Amino acid sequence: MMRWFAHRGASDQFPENTLEAIEAAIPFVDGIEFDVHFSRDGVGVIIHDETVNRTTDGTGRVVDLTLAELKQLNAGARFKGSGGPVRTTIPTLDEVLALLAPTSVILNIELKTDTIRYPGLEAYTLERCRAYGIASDRLIFSSFNHYSIATVRELDPAIETAILFPYPLYHPEQQAKQLGAKAIHPDYRRVTRDDVILAHQAGIEVRVYTPKTAADVKQMMALGVDAVIVNDPKTFKASLSIH
Ligand code: G3P
Ligand code: CA
Repeated sequence: MMRWFAHRGASDQFPENTLEAIEAAIPFVDGIEFDVHFSRDGVGVIIHDETVNRTTDGTGRVVDLTLAELKQLNAGARFKGSGGPVRTTIPTLDEVLALLAPTSVILNIELKTDTIRYPGLEAYTLERCRAYGIASDRLIFSSFNHYSIATVRELDPAIETAILFPYPLYHPEQQAKQLGAKAIHPDYRRVTRDDVILAHQAGIEVRVYTPKTAADVKQMMALGVDAVIVNDPKTFKASLSIH
């Protein structure tokens, strides 16, 4: 059965990567994907971009702002979706872990080490997950930065890792095997039926981000992907009559 992950929480209904978006997704999904960076003072914070410009009323790089400065910003300031709060804050990793720890959803934590390396982010994130008692089988660490995947594997081989691919795939299952990753998380527009077959033959799961419509999801189901990571799981499931 194909699984459902919420992308940055229920980010069509609430401002992405906020506690409101994450909480709203819980009843509808198997897992929730969110993005982690370091603040200037070394606190894990949940936001997608390297800067606060697109999603808040502030400006500047996350890594140049302290947690206190980040917490002054309104993370709902630029939200154009269908509802949700006008004012909310950028959550810390700890706040998200506290929210999700008592649930049974999978946490797909994307380490945003794409261009800023954030030394120690992998170990910090693992340690905070342990501090909240989140079982290893509820964790998937993903990254576009394959060094981050390798680092997580070195720190704790029991944690599932997944490699993100934004570009057309060339034997991604071989890269996954080489890194000890259990899954690939490709852009849904890049995936072919052959990619899925090759991955499955190698024992690698395929979870695609971010089908934009229910019709896109249907197409992914036909390819045989293992999961979709979407902004509006509730609406897509309803329109596909999936409960
Ligand atoms: O983790 C899947 C997806 O979130 C990766 O792309 O840019 O939305 O973080 P992005
Ligand atoms: Ca992400």
